[in-house]
Amino acid sequence: MDLELIEKAKLATSTSYSPYSHFKVGAAVRMADGRIYTGSNQENAAYSACLCAERVALLYACANAGDSYPTSIAIAANQNGDFTENIITPCGECCQVLVEMEKRFGHEITIYLYGKNETKTLKSAKELLPLAFELGVIC
Ligand code: THU
Repeated sequence: MDLELIEKAKLATSTSYSPYSHFKVGAAVRMADGRIYTGSNQENAAYSACLCAERVALLYACANAGDSYPTSIAIAANQNGDFTENIITPCGECCQVLVEMEKRFGHEITIYLYGKNETKTLKSAKELLPLAFELGVIC
């Protein structure tokens, strides 16, 4: 278990902009070269413009990490000033992004889901979204 990464995800909840849901999510992504990138959910009055913590962290990491690629991600959430008792799981769109990153870089991404009661570890995003969408060839 990557305790440092989980701690960074918990810390990242403090940068959440969530005046609508009041649900602060933090994510921390570890790259193959060891670097860590963090993100948090960023909401907007036009709700469809809201971005989840996972995608903020993953996409920022890939846009800035040069040749490196994500090997793990930790996710935590804070509500009413306290971390959630139970784990939270990434939404379907974030799972879709995670699965495509695994395919793009040819490496599985370990997922740490933090909750005060338990932290769950998954070895691949495919465990969350086994039938992720892929562009097929129509013939
Ligand atoms: N959210 C995340 O950032 N990640 C998740 O895994 C689930 C939900 C955000 C979106 C929205 O800002 C708030 O949490 C409530 O849904």
